[in-house]
Amino acid sequence: MSEVTAHRASILHCLRDPSDDKDPLAVGSVEYFEDGLLVVADGYVDRLGPAEALLKELPSNVKVVEHGDKLIIPGLIDCHVHYPQIDIIASYGERLLDWLEKYAYPAERKFADPEHAKEVAKFFVQELLRNGTTTACVFATVHPQSVDAIFEAASKYGMRLIAGKVLMDKNCPEDLRDTPETGYEQSRQLIEKWHGRDRLSYAVTPRFAITSSEEQLRQAGRLLKEYPDVYLHTHLAENEEEVAQVARQFPWSCSYLDVYEHFGLVREGSVFAHCIHMHDDDRKLMARKGAAMVFCPSSNLFLGSGLFDLAAARRCSVRVGAGSDVGGGTTLSMLLTLGDTYKVLQLNKQSLSPFGGLYLGTLGAARALYLDNCIGNFAERKEADFLVLEASGTAISRRRWDNAATIADRLFCQFVLGDNRISGGSFVSGEPALTLA
Ligand code: GUN
Ligand code: ZN
Repeated sequence: MSEVTAHRASILHCLRDPSDDKDPLAVGSVEYFEDGLLVVADGYVDRLGPAEALLKELPSNVKVVEHGDKLIIPGLIDCHVHYPQIDIIASYGERLLDWLEKYAYPAERKFADPEHAKEVAKFFVQELLRNGTTTACVFATVHPQSVDAIFEAASKYGMRLIAGKVLMDKNCPEDLRDTPETGYEQSRQLIEKWHGRDRLSYAVTPRFAITSSEEQLRQAGRLLKEYPDVYLHTHLAENEEEVAQVARQFPWSCSYLDVYEHFGLVREGSVFAHCIHMHDDDRKLMARKGAAMVFCPSSNLFLGSGLFDLAAARRCSVRVGAGSDVGGGTTLSMLLTLGDTYKVLQLNKQSLSPFGGLYLGTLGAARALYLDNCIGNFAERKEADFLVLEASGTAISRRRWDNAATIADRLFCQFVLGDNRISGGSFVSGEPALTLA
């Protein structure tokens, strides 16, 4: 007998990219039920529709959870975040390369201790879920035990999570280096242990071109050939000094992306964080190869890295998701991150509609990660990951929510004013997430 629960609330999700639509609700790229019902059977979406009509069709013994005037949206997806950097979020005064030396590497050194890794991983997963993030693509550290810790924590909470051991064998502190051989072997063992278990997937994770020798990048390419369905997760063209250093370090390359391309790292399932300082030729190559960009606005503002060009990514038809990039980013909330995408685009004389933001944090992100067959919206048989939004405890947010004229307006004020207090709960595979572990 299957276990069926129905959730009654206002319900909103994307059916496809609404960014170019004048009226997404009218043309059906976005679907909204003011009084909706999401029926979940055995952890999967069974049906979605207007509550009154659906309730008449459901057997009378189905449990109905009434969420009142709250808003249900699909679980948010953070396409790029560093769990070991949670303790150095909001560290003052540096841009990328100095920030790595001064803050990130010292924080990551502590993950040699598996107990520390376990404690941080548990805290991190709980914070993701408190913020409505039900899927994340995560950097661990160079230590294999840091990967065990984050996968174990995610698995306890039933989260969908992609992670990998950082590969770095040069241009970083001696005690944080692996070698091409140990990096390959440890990654291989972690893939065998974790990839495809529960809702977990492995990402081969060279930190960025600067911290890997050519031999290490070659070994990363070898892993992708041997395990074609794992991800590749790295950084690309975030900061101008970084781009200049990559050009010096790989003098034969035509561009930063060309370094990764040379070693077979640009393909479907490759996830490149930032992608700011680059040309359309490379964007087009990414699109052709099926690789994805991650727009990390709060990090780009905080580290002074630059302004992501979403219009160019769209023009070149590249897959794009959004990421918090904590600890360079300043919040784990993907709602606030979507608010920051809007601000960055304003500075770049571009815009993003409220529904366009929703797409970037849900179905668009799922597409970037090749997970749109199982998450991202409430299509039948997808995994029932969702969050329940309500006005936060702040007087101004409550007032703004009550004054919202349309559902787009209500959603948008969540992006700008929202924080984890507005989450009436995250659900993974249909279960209240924080009660699971
Ligand atoms: N580039 C290489 N490593 C990092 C990192 O840890 N954070 C960010 N934002 N960029 C990077
Ligand atoms: Zn990053």
